Order: sequence, then C-alpha cells, then structure tokens
Amino acid sequence: MSLSIIVLAAGKGSRMQSSKPKVFHEIGNYPMLFHILETSSKFKNSSINIVLNESLSNYKDIIKKNFTNVIFSFQKEQNGTADAVNSAITINKRKNSKTTIVLCGDTPLISKKTLDNCLKKFEKEKLDLCVISMRPDNKKNSYGKLKFNKDKLIGIIEQSEINRSKLSSQKFDLCNSGIIIFKTKSLEENLSFVKNNNKKQEYFLTDLVEIFHDKGLLVDHFTCDFKETLGVNSMSDLARVNKEFQKKKRNYFLSSGVVMEEPESVYFSYDTIIGKNVVIQPNVYFGKSVQLKDQVLVRSYSYLDNVKVHENVTIGPFARIRDGVEIRENSKIGNFVEIKKSEIGRDVKISHLSYIGDSTVYSNSNIGAGAITCNFDGKKKNKTIIGKNCFIGSNTSLVAPLNIKQGSIIGAGTVVNKDIPNETVVYRKSELIKKNKKK
Ligand code: UD1
Ligand code: CA
Repeated sequence: MSLSIIVLAAGKGSRMQSSKPKVFHEIGNYPMLFHILETSSKFKNSSINIVLNESLSNYKDIIKKNFTNVIFSFQKEQNGTADAVNSAITINKRKNSKTTIVLCGDTPLISKKTLDNCLKKFEKEKLDLCVISMRPDNKKNSYGKLKFNKDKLIGIIEQSEINRSKLSSQKFDLCNSGIIIFKTKSLEENLSFVKNNNKKQEYFLTDLVEIFHDKGLLVDHFTCDFKETLGVNSMSDLARVNKEFQKKKRNYFLSSGVVMEEPESVYFSYDTIIGKNVVIQPNVYFGKSVQLKDQVLVRSYSYLDNVKVHENVTIGPFARIRDGVEIRENSKIGNFVEIKKSEIGRDVKISHLSYIGDSTVYSNSNIGAGAITCNFDGKKKNKTIIGKNCFIGSNTSLVAPLNIKQGSIIGAGTVVNKDIPNETVVYRKSELIKKNKKK
C-alpha cells in the first residue's frame, strides 16, 4: 500500500445539537461519511482507515457492509485532530505507506479530481506536507487560517486562537479545508511534537505545518473551489452542503439531457439514475434508489422512493410511489395515486385517486378512480393480484388476500373479498327503494 487514507470521524459533533452522530447525517439521502468513503475508494493501491469514537462502534457493521475494505481505529477521548490521526497511526501498521491523506468525515463534497491535482503537486515538488486551501465566501468563518511569510506558507492558525490573541481575521484570506497530504514518514516522525497549549486544549493537526516549516521540511498548499470544501459543523452547514450537492446533481442531469423547467425545485438522491429524453416537471422529490428509464415523464409534486420506472411511463401530478415499486413500459400513473411495494405491468392505467399496496397488476389492466387495495387486515399485510386485461371499476375495495384473474371486470363500488375467476363480470346492482313522489 503506498497511499494511506485516514478519515477523521471521531469528533463529538456537539455543534449539531443532535443525538445522531454528525457523520451519519445525510447529503442527498446518503451519510456524509459514505460520500467521503466513496471518493476514497476510487484510489487504487490504497488503504482506508476511519477514526471513530467508542460510541460509534455500533456503526462499524453498517460501514463495513457498504465499504468492505475499510479498517477502523478508535480514539479514546476527543482530544483533537492530531490525536485522532495518532490513534490511526499507532493502531494500524502502515509498513509500505509512502503518502498519507487526512480527510475529514464532515467535509463530504471534496472531489477525486481535486485530491488528484493536489497529489500531483505534492509528488512533483517532493513536498512533505500539502494543505488543501480555499477562500470562503464570507470573511466571518470558523476555518483555520493559513499564515504566510511573503509567499511562503509557515503555519495555520485556528480561529479560536485568532479570537484569543485578538488578531484580526480580516488579514487572512486563505483557509484550511481540513484536508492535508503528508509524506508518511515525516508525519509519523513529527506527530508527537504537537502540543495542546491552546484555548481548546486540543492537539491540532494543523500545528504540524509550523513544526514542519521550522524543521526545514517542505510545506505548501493547493487552492481549490471553496464549495468542494464546505465543512459541516451545524445544521445550517448541513443544509448548505445539501444545497451545493443538489446543484451539482441538477447540473449533471441537465447536461445529460434531462428536461427540467425549474431545476431548483427538484430534489435528487445520491443514487438517482435517469435515462434519455426524460422530463421532470417542477417540485418533484426523488428518494433513495429511483431509476427512470428513457422517455419517462414525471409531473409536478410527485414523490418517488425506491422505484424502478420503465420506458415511456407517465407519473403524476401528485403521485406517491414508494418502498419497492416497478412500473413497466407505457403505463400511466395519474394524480393522487399512491403505490407501495407493487409491480405494475405494461400498458396499465391507474389514472386517479387510488391506493395500490402489496400488489401485482398485470399488463393492460385499468384501475378506475378511487379503487383501493385493502391490504392490511389489522394484523398483517396481504397481497392482491390483478390479472392482465382486467377492468377495475371506480371506488372498488379490493380486500386482500385477493386474486382477480385475467380479463375480469369489476363494476364500480364493489367490495371484492373473494377470488374472481378469469373473464368474469362482478358488479353491484342498484337497489330501487321506492318511487320519488315529489313529481
Ligand atoms: C478543522 C481544522 C480547521 C479547518 C476545518 C475545515 C483542525 C485543528 N482544524 O476545524 O483548520 O479549517 O477543520 O473544516 O484540524 N475529529 C476527530 N477527533 C477529534 C476532533 C475532531 O476525529 O478529537 C474529526 C471530526 O469528526 C471532523 C474532523 O476531525 O470530521 C474535523 O474536526 P472539527 O472539530 O470539525 O474541526 P474544525 O473545528 O471544523
Ligand atoms: Ca469541521
């Protein structure tokens, strides 16, 4: 292994004011930490070491399930970023490691391209340390600030120390993204020189810049787009990072030909997949695991979560489709329709006001307005099967478990609570009660 990646994720995250660990808060419905692990996994011939705190040990399995190759270190007390790196180094032997990249679990948008460019500079100039720097869009920020002597980087001063020493942060322009690349040997030889004589009494990894510089080791920085380095320390930071992530996703889909009249109102997940010639009207939400194939039209105010939609399907407006649904070619799901955990065949029409749950609807069937599958008997969920070429009249109640075989017609307003053989007509007659004498 020539490249060691250390992902710091042991911090308390106290500024989040949440009982959920910070790095498990989601960006595009995917934990922040997983974004950074996806990026890390793109490096070949590398090891990934995550530093967690003890209270996150029960998250180990979830992480392992998604990223089988990662290794873990546990930081006993949250004594700062240098201490966190130290726990990774002492626990895991890194014999063949030449270069170490330290990433922060709370900086999820950093791209592989930026890391590659910084690595290139690091190698070309034979540096011992290279900081990824950026220029935040507001001067009032809590990032560590890069200190220069003329053009030479000589240290990083944390905002808490700037406040303490009453220095003006105005004079600092470039900030620390939190991501630092080290020559592994230099890192290991110098980490013990970091002291905690600062206001927070923490061991700051950033102090290594000054330590390296004073020893005559080569330090420099590589500036990247601030938006990639947005760090999450609070809920409002999380909202901002999500916003940036959404912007990136929208631009990606627009550039791959998806029609969106109002892209700002469409919300994507990290894993949304969209085919060719797809149209998405304003105000649509894509939860996890949504795939739209070619020529799909999603009308406004639809909510899709765990759905596979085949070619030429129309959905919405105001449709909710969730929890494992597959909709085959040319079908039409109209307004105020909810579909849960169901398979919908080709050329099916469910045009208005229906609930279809735990069902299979075969091809070419028509489900009338207000038809409902009564899938829950108070104890468990039951399945409904509707064969091909069926016609289910408006306002019918389909009491599951139920099998309506192919070619059957169910008249409007019927309560169907027994299986229907194929090619059968079932209907509810009107009852003539008495003559209207008024006339
Ligand atoms: C850190 C940097 C700061 C930089 C900013 C960028 C230091 C001292 N400061 O500040 O220069 O501008 O990131 O976002 O490095 N962590 C641990 N163990 C600890 C403390 C932190 O694992 O004991 C982890 C956190 O989970 C987090 C990362 O390290 O993922 C950064 O820690 P955080 O406390 O958020 O540092 P910042 O104050 O943001
Ligand atoms: Ca942070």
